[in-house]
Amino acid sequence: MGSLDIGIDLGTTKIIIHKAGAGVLLHEPAVVAINTKDNSIIAVGEEALRMLGRTPGYIVAEFPLRDGVISDHVMTEILLKHCIKRACDSLIIKHRVIICVPSEITDVEKRAVVEAVVNAGGRKVFLIDEPIAAAIGAGIDISKPKGNMVIDIGGGTTDIAVISLCGVVVSQSIKFAGDKVDEEIIKYISSKFKISIGKKMAEQVKKEVGNLYKPSHDIKTSVKGRNLLTCYPQLVTVSECDIYEAVEEFGEMIVEEIKKVLDQTPPELASDIIETGILLTGGTSLMKGIAKLIEERTGVKTTVADDPIGCVSRGTSLAFDYVDILQTGFTSETHI
Ligand SMILES: Nc1ncnc2c1ncn2[C@@H]1O[C@H](COP(=O)(O)OP(=O)(O)OP(=O)(O)O)[C@@H](O)[C@H]1O
Ligand SMILES: [Mg+2]
Repeated sequence: MGSLDIGIDLGTTKIIIHKAGAGVLLHEPAVVAINTKDNSIIAVGEEALRMLGRTPGYIVAEFPLRDGVISDHVMTEILLKHCIKRACDSLIIKHRVIICVPSEITDVEKRAVVEAVVNAGGRKVFLIDEPIAAAIGAGIDISKPKGNMVIDIGGGTTDIAVISLCGVVVSQSIKFAGDKVDEEIIKYISSKFKISIGKKMAEQVKKEVGNLYKPSHDIKTSVKGRNLLTCYPQLVTVSECDIYEAVEEFGEMIVEEIKKVLDQTPPELASDIIETGILLTGGTSLMKGIAKLIEERTGVKTTVADDPIGCVSRGTSLAFDYVDILQTGFTSETHI
């Protein structure tokens, strides 16, 4: 009989539902569009993302989790229910669910997420720390008495953790990740080129010419926006070196936080990390040069996991193997 265990990565930018053996059941942007006249749901996921910034006044399309915290509880619940229903084809079957939520959300918000999953058909719900899920999903055997440093750089938060024996030994979470990089690019283009661009354009620029290590003047891309002085649409060309000015501080901040965590790491685990290296997961670890920057500054071999965006969701569904032994990885659970 097929298992009813599913894992959910509820991220700031996207939601992925994964089932061990079956793979990804759903991968959608974490966006909901609502008609405020009658509170009806107009779209969820990809379709709602296409509406962002393009809706008439009575339609609200938004990311209910922003900067790594829940900014809208009702929308978050709608998002979860809708996605679980779509992925699992039924709300009646009672699943066991392991869910990963942004580390900065409060205990009250965590309970709200657990309740939303229960209302959507979860029989028993576990919350898991993002670095633990990322490590499991990246194929690390977290049960060994060996130190591993995992850094998940997502959209809203960067989570840095040293893991050993199924637990987080030292960790640090900052609300500074891919979304803030996009904001810095928007500010930079506005101040240097006097052009206003939207979030989607900024993200595209980041993916094309964002480079945190030895940026080049020759790698360029076109940026479309609105001239702030004339108000007419305008096209400008920006290089990796231009965008480096906007993203450099982000790189420095990540390196600073890693150093703080390494400072607090017990010596035995620190020497393990020299051997095992630093593993990067999360979408922002795909940013060009980030691994090289960290490796050069810390002196520790740094690699980006295979499929870094999928690591956490894969880890949530594989974590059922660890349910009995995980100590600090699970922060809460519920039964109905
Ligand atoms: N190729 C790429 N280059 C740079 N950034 C990228 C790339 N691909 C995705 N990203 C960024 O990764 C971020 C999303 O990562 P991820 O899916 O891990 O976040 P999340 O899990 O939703 O957020 P969080 O864990 O912070 O709640 C976005 O900011 C996105 O722009
Ligand atoms: Mg994430």
